[in-house]
Amino acid sequence: MMMFVFVSYLFAVLIGLATCQGSLDGPTVKIPQGLVQGIYKKSYKNKTYSAFEGIPYAVPPVGDLRFKPPQAAAKWTGVLKANKHYECLHFLPLVIVGPRGTEDCLYAYVYVPRETINPNELLDVIVHIHGGAFMMGSPKFMVGPEFLMDRDAIVVSMNYRLGILGFLSTEDDVVPGNNGLKDQSLALEWIKHNIKYFGGNPASITITGLSAGAASVHLHYFSQLSKGLFHRGFSQSGTALNCWALTENPLEKAKAVAKNVSCTTSSSKKMVECLRQVEGNALIQGLRTLFVYMDAVPITPFGPIVEKNPNGAFLSEHPYKMLQKGDVYDVPWITSNTKDEGLFPVGLIFAGKKFSEFEEKWYDIMQYALEMHYTVKPSLHREVLSNIKKYYFKDQPISEDNMFSFVKLFSDRMFLVDAEKSVRMHANATQSEVYYYLFSYIEDMPHFPFGMPKGASHGDDGRLMFKMFLTPPKLSDNDEQMMEYFADFIINFARKGIPSMKSVEWLPVKPDKDSNINYLQIADPDTISMKSVARLAPDDFWDSLPIRENENAMASSSDMVQGKFVIISIVLFVINAI
Ligand SMILES: *[C@@H]1O[C@H](CO)[C@@H](O)[C@H](O)[C@H]1NC(C)=O
Ligand SMILES: *[C@@H]1O[C@H](CO)[C@@H](O)[C@H](O)[C@H]1NC(C)=O
Ligand SMILES: *[C@@H]1O[C@H](CO)[C@@H](O)[C@H](O)[C@H]1NC(C)=O
Repeated sequence: MMMFVFVSYLFAVLIGLATCQGSLDGPTVKIPQGLVQGIYKKSYKNKTYSAFEGIPYAVPPVGDLRFKPPQAAAKWTGVLKANKHYECLHFLPLVIVGPRGTEDCLYAYVYVPRETINPNELLDVIVHIHGGAFMMGSPKFMVGPEFLMDRDAIVVSMNYRLGILGFLSTEDDVVPGNNGLKDQSLALEWIKHNIKYFGGNPASITITGLSAGAASVHLHYFSQLSKGLFHRGFSQSGTALNCWALTENPLEKAKAVAKNVSCTTSSSKKMVECLRQVEGNALIQGLRTLFVYMDAVPITPFGPIVEKNPNGAFLSEHPYKMLQKGDVYDVPWITSNTKDEGLFPVGLIFAGKKFSEFEEKWYDIMQYALEMHYTVKPSLHREVLSNIKKYYFKDQPISEDNMFSFVKLFSDRMFLVDAEKSVRMHANATQSEVYYYLFSYIEDMPHFPFGMPKGASHGDDGRLMFKMFLTPPKLSDNDEQMMEYFADFIINFARKGIPSMKSVEWLPVKPDKDSNINYLQIADPDTISMKSVARLAPDDFWDSLPIRENENAMASSSDMVQGKFVIISIVLFVINAI
């Protein structure tokens, strides 16, 4: 029944969704790097706007610069024609397609809702960070600005390095990690310094993102590199505490890929020198050695990490710990979830498979699919997975009939349990307000992944703000109404830092632990209202399992390294050596 899921996604990506090409000879803007000429394009309502697509914000991270932090882009002479989309080189999880994109990919895209640029206008700036599990995705397929170009704000998006190219870490100073996030920070710096030439207000920058882009937005609140570069944030379906937002054992994974492409692993330095020589596509193919199922599980083999050395780090302490200490950049934050987030990972991972197969494969695949392979002690894997199965499936065998138990499990584990921790802790940590919404509207436009039951899936609310693949040129009346509400909401938030939708007073999340969580319920155009709930997910069950990676991160943090931790480590080292 889900045969078509992958194929349809790939089809959508491959045909490139020939969105209308803009006409050339758009406006020219002078920025410190040089002259940039954009193109004219049409908004959803046929208004002409100016698009500047493919402005370099960093030196191409190729050759010796592969795996290095990004460097600010150089100047150019003449006029840069900004009419090109880039995709960062990545592995698309299906054998027949393999690698896509180029390593020379660090570009920004600026959209101005005007035919004539007025540098004195000071429009609010909405930046969008695309999703794709830190492994794939691009502004081209995920950040169409057509809806917002009917309003008065500038939209900016950027590419950032993905997968092994963006997130390789040797867990030492050779390649500390987080280059993909350092790319994002550099892009934010570029925006702050350059947006005024396009008529944007550098003192009003709102960062938004979906999924891995949402976790990225949240991670910027914890980064020294991004402090002062934005004024509001909106994390749509993803936070820094989600189990997939930080990845484990990056050195072990780097070594596995290195072995696969015949590189030495004798030292970090030698390994990385060799990995720099490997041709890009071959390196990306080497990732396949890390997948245990369908070239898609684990979903995020490479992603953000806590860096060991704070010098130059994007992130040098676990966000959970920083939230507890109140060490968080203090500007307003919104986060959200859809009712059936799990539809997306379930559709993606289990595409074209019979559910009954997972009865047998439960233990082998689920430890990776549920991101607990590294965070639960191996001796406890079976017990934990068996408890989860019992809790979500009762004693029913796994089959299409209880597909929604599967979906619920993924919604809870991948999103809701940690969303709740995030909003409560973030509200306690900052003076600025934290807001939350739950989206349960079922759109009329085609649902992705195809072949799954209808629901409010991961990403559905995102496409009411930005055109993505599969968004039709004309929305149904209901979808269009919802799109207008979302566009108004983000525009108002960018303007005032206080969200609202359809003139409902949107109450912030209260900081105290025992209060219900206030949230805006977005169910359909006529049902948008404030609600509150004690729990977003069955926390008691999840807290009873020994997989509390956020809480455990505390125990292994650097403060404890002195003293008994060192002694234990030495003992373990000696035992291992014997
Ligand atoms: C925009 O123009 C196209 C082609 O001219 C037309 O088909 C479409 O209906 C128009 N859309 C709106 C919202 O006016
Ligand atoms: C690299 O990994 C692929 C996929 O797992 C595997 O088929 C291939 O044999 C590996 N090559 C080497 C040299 O280990
Ligand atoms: C709430 O914030 C205070 C002050 O920063 C801190 O001491 C406390 O640990 C926080 N509580 C939680 C649950 O994070």
